[in-house]
Amino acid sequence: MKIAMVGSGYVGLVSGACFADFGHEVVCIDKDETKIQRLLHGMMPIYEPGLAELVESNVAARRLSFTTDLAEGIAGAQAIFIAVGTPSRRGDGHADLSYVYAVAQEVGEHLSNDAVIVTKSTVPVGTGDEVERILRECNPGHRFSVVSNPEFLREGAAIGDFKRPDRIVIGAEDDFGRSVMREVYRPLFLNESPILFVSRRSSELTKYAANAFLAVKITFINEMADLCEKVGGNVQDVARGIGLDNRIGSKFLHAGPGYGGSCFPKDTLALLKTAEDYDSPVRIVEAVVKVNDARKRAMGRKVVDALGGAEEARGKRVAMLGLTFKPNTDDMRDSPSIAIAQTLADAGVTVAAYDPEGMEQAQPLMPQVDMKQDPYAAIEGADAIVLVTEWDAFRALDLGRIKAIAKAPVLVDLRNVYKPEHLREAGFTYLSVGRGTSGKDNAASGEPAAETVPA
Ligand code: UDX
Repeated sequence: MKIAMVGSGYVGLVSGACFADFGHEVVCIDKDETKIQRLLHGMMPIYEPGLAELVESNVAARRLSFTTDLAEGIAGAQAIFIAVGTPSRRGDGHADLSYVYAVAQEVGEHLSNDAVIVTKSTVPVGTGDEVERILRECNPGHRFSVVSNPEFLREGAAIGDFKRPDRIVIGAEDDFGRSVMREVYRPLFLNESPILFVSRRSSELTKYAANAFLAVKITFINEMADLCEKVGGNVQDVARGIGLDNRIGSKFLHAGPGYGGSCFPKDTLALLKTAEDYDSPVRIVEAVVKVNDARKRAMGRKVVDALGGAEEARGKRVAMLGLTFKPNTDDMRDSPSIAIAQTLADAGVTVAAYDPEGMEQAQPLMPQVDMKQDPYAAIEGADAIVLVTEWDAFRALDLGRIKAIAKAPVLVDLRNVYKPEHLREAGFTYLSVGRGTSGKDNAASGEPAAETVPA
């Protein structure tokens, strides 16, 4: 089967490469000439584990190709995916659908055979209706069907998520749409991944509902972490205690500095806009957005407190370990590190940072931060270290070396990577998230923190 993927960004490129790996013939299309040229030379526009190899092997097998020419790319394709960006519209938080509609228009003008047009981009409810209207207005002279098929992959684990999804959601309004989509995902039917056929509107809403629900879960556990600090509890024990209840589930209960990334912040805002448009408020998500925004700045203040408060902090130095919104990506969008760096700058604190993949993208967002080539270069002379992103490279730092080169052995661990008692034994002042009084371990009470396995 021939598949055209319009938009070769994160979702388009990963989906295209995976469909090719399933044995389909895939053409990835993008307007960006440089991006396509680089892809033709095996250079990836993003950092994603395993992607370069997947692209290379499928290009070599002649199942995957790249072009800037949409008319040529879609010719003969039975499924044409729209996987272009839907960023937050400046000013009002609505999803900006101009790229999606521009592609629909172009596809309509060049459609040369019967085809199913599939929106994979995250789009608000009703977008499929508008795409269908645009296509119909173009009078393509061929049979077409507009289908919604949201993508649930996570950055850093995108290929595994695509190939072994928890579920596939397909919103189709007719048999033609359903039958072509069945063929597209036939390799996954064999894998027994559940495939849900629903209406187009239900499918569009499902994507937003899933992301908003996960944002709620994270924000809930973050607030439980704050409460744990006040009452002297351990949020990891609470997370495990509730997560083993199958109705709750153990995933997405890691307390931390707040969610970031390319999806949760933008999709929660867009969902709120839809709710507003239809006069059906989703108040729980309204609260989550506010709480999460405030949390990022609060994490900066936590570091200032670790330096001895606003007065003491001025002129001190902090080493920031990890800048991306999560590990295994170079994506800096809405990363908590941005608000933390800003809060520290406002408090007159100098920051040196290290991130394995994100420094190039981070530098323009935090020009005041001094980027270093390894964690120890950032730590040298620091009055405190803040661990913002849980990259594997930070899981086994050489504590002896840190004590020798840092000005003070103070670690603010915003991802609960380390065990409080371990750091205490090593002579560190250790603060984490939601573990014991004021985020410090329970040393004062003489109670060792309970053995926990992260949820
Ligand atoms: C998310 C969804 O998981 C995915 O299904 C959707 O397609 C796109 O959005 P992604 O943004 O790549 O994926 O990252 P994810 O791993 O979900 O993490 C999002 C944010 O939540 C990160 O900032 C992460 O650090 C944070 N998070 C996640 C927590 O703070 N605690 C958790 O327990 C889980």
